[in-house]
Amino acid sequence: MRDTSETALRLPAHIHATKPYQPGKPIDALAREIGVEPETIVKLASNENPLGMSDAARAVLMDAGTELARYPDNDCHALLDALSRRFDVPAGYLVPGNGSECVLGLAATAFLEPGRNAVYAQYSFQAFVNAVQRTGASHKVVPARNHGCDLDAMLAALDDNTGLVYLANPGNPTGSFVSGAALERFIAEVPSHIPVLLDEAYSEYLPLDGRYDSLAWVRRFPNLIVTRTFSKAYGLAGLRVGYGVAQPSLAALLNRIRPAFVVTELAERAAVAALNDEAFLARSCAENHKGLVQFYAGFDSLGLHYLRSHANFVLVRVGDAAAVNAKLLRQGVIVRPVGVYGLPEWLRISAGTEAENARCLAALRTALEA
Ligand SMILES: Cc1ncc(COP(=O)(O)O)c(C=O)c1O
Repeated sequence: MRDTSETALRLPAHIHATKPYQPGKPIDALAREIGVEPETIVKLASNENPLGMSDAARAVLMDAGTELARYPDNDCHALLDALSRRFDVPAGYLVPGNGSECVLGLAATAFLEPGRNAVYAQYSFQAFVNAVQRTGASHKVVPARNHGCDLDAMLAALDDNTGLVYLANPGNPTGSFVSGAALERFIAEVPSHIPVLLDEAYSEYLPLDGRYDSLAWVRRFPNLIVTRTFSKAYGLAGLRVGYGVAQPSLAALLNRIRPAFVVTELAERAAVAALNDEAFLARSCAENHKGLVQFYAGFDSLGLHYLRSHANFVLVRVGDAAAVNAKLLRQGVIVRPVGVYGLPEWLRISAGTEAENARCLAALRTALEA
């Protein structure tokens, strides 16, 4: 039989060293494993929207008909037009993606290669690590301060070979947050030939007093790329739509190297509808805030240490997280162990509905007592 092992294929060493992305366990998989109906499972593992999607997006999908023989619009004109109007930014600044992960991967493709390095903080989103690894560039991981980004240390880490800086605000998996003022100072101090990718997957959840106008920074800083997503507050994770915002020459570069037809037709239509459903967005944020408060109170009563979060999940210290996770799974509750991030004592739990959060907290109490 033909030897198709990776050694026989003579893979480049950096590709051989890639690790698979570890998603949250699917509901159906756990239901099969423990022999229960999928409806009884509580999944708080992937920072999804517990309210589902907006009715406006649902209506568009229901109404879309079944004809999908033609390719979607490669330029995503309707989506870019809607984003342009919603955020008052010219369409030439926009880069559509199959989720924002796609756009942050494009930045790695564009700016990294063996011999260069990417700078990012300890406990950064796993997709940053994987995107860098795929290019063969090296990783300059800057130690975190209080589980968040140490911006001064990140500046000090930049060198002649730095090709890209990744920074998520709020950050995943810690829920950490850097103020707009500190972030603006940081971006201003990064030399303009080094692109900075500011990942704002969770920015809609920020309270009003924590918000900042990163799109105004994009107009000032030619090396800034802001990415956002429809997967979280807009409730469309299953459709995969995100986008980047950068000055036109940078946006054009990223658009040039992105895969063709990167957003499907249904996804584009639903995203446009969701974008304009501000009531749903407000409800999502309010529900999320309630969920975090419910978890904080529950963790306090269990005597558990946790990090106050600026996103739609919370990191809680449970001791042997792998063992606690196994006990939660047996009770039909899926959360996310974060050992892969170097946090083996912690679980990341997404804020769900009040009932889901209560189930999770009760299961956690049982798991910790057992
Ligand atoms: C920090 C961060 N950025 C980006 C993403 C990816 O989102 P998308 O679904 O848009 O690819 C996630 C998803 O969990 C995330 O946590």
